[in-house]
Amino acid sequence: MKQFISVHDVTNINALVKKALDYKSNPFKDRSLGINKRIGCLFLNPSMRTRLSTQIAAQNLGMEVIVFNVGSEGWALEFEEEAIMSGSTVEHVKDAAPIMGKYFDILAIRTFPSLKNREDDYSELYIKQFIKYAGIPVVSLESATLHPLQSLTDIITIQEELTKTSPSGGRRAKIVLTWAPHVKPLPQCVANSFSQWINAWGAADFVITHPEDYELNEEFTKGATIIHNQDEALKNADFVYVKNWSTYTDYGEIYSNDPEWMLTNKKLGLTNNAKVMHCLPVRRNVELSDEILDSANSLVTQEAANRVWAAQAVLSEILSGK
Ligand code: CP
Repeated sequence: MKQFISVHDVTNINALVKKALDYKSNPFKDRSLGINKRIGCLFLNPSMRTRLSTQIAAQNLGMEVIVFNVGSEGWALEFEEEAIMSGSTVEHVKDAAPIMGKYFDILAIRTFPSLKNREDDYSELYIKQFIKYAGIPVVSLESATLHPLQSLTDIITIQEELTKTSPSGGRRAKIVLTWAPHVKPLPQCVANSFSQWINAWGAADFVITHPEDYELNEEFTKGATIIHNQDEALKNADFVYVKNWSTYTDYGEIYSNDPEWMLTNKKLGLTNNAKVMHCLPVRRNVELSDEILDSANSLVTQEAANRVWAAQAVLSEILSGK
């Protein structure tokens, strides 16, 4: 693997999931793989799970880790080519990234979208500029439109659960991605990425439910069944993935915040006693209810813990040059 930006960088999802679950059983088996190698983890935005799990994963492989909170501690970076830097930006990525390429063996980067200009966000300029100028493998710790380490983790978690209990009668599992209310406009990254990975995985029936006007980019959802009636969508679901996102078409807006879209035990009663997932952080009793989050149906802690094994599998693939 040369980089990890989206599902398109993965040749075999099931093999990568197996590798991650092997690391979960035996975290230190490749302890020598990353000896004398260094990863730089750059954060232009806040993080808890991604930052800590990536550090632990790299350390499990014997790597040295340096975390740099560029957004709060570094020089303000410019990403536009031929920019006249008379504004607030201090250093161009074409000057900074090659230096990082000399300091590190792998560069991992978290950026967020502005949610102001869809074309700019969907061009993925920030991460593409790092790829262009760093000259070393780049791993996305979430970009403007995708969150691939989260999605790999989500499939690992679903696979782990399916290994324990498969749907009765040998039928395919049903996964529902449901929109949920939120007080702030949030990126579409997690929903885009989850859709992209579940569609590429192809191992389950996939339904997406959201209020009208919250359509995601078809590039990621194509292959899923889209149903605007949440109750209808939830019927017989084995997994419900809960996430808010802001509007894609009229970009970055909140059109509806209908609390009826928050998943409750009553709604869960429509499902096949579904396991409930969320990438976290979550706003309790706005996006997802206490009664669900604190129940045996919730996979959120297991899911967040699995972030380590997803990151470890990806770093391992890059280190071994596969
Ligand atoms: N799910 C996730 O990416 O969490 P953090 O923002 O805390 O890294």
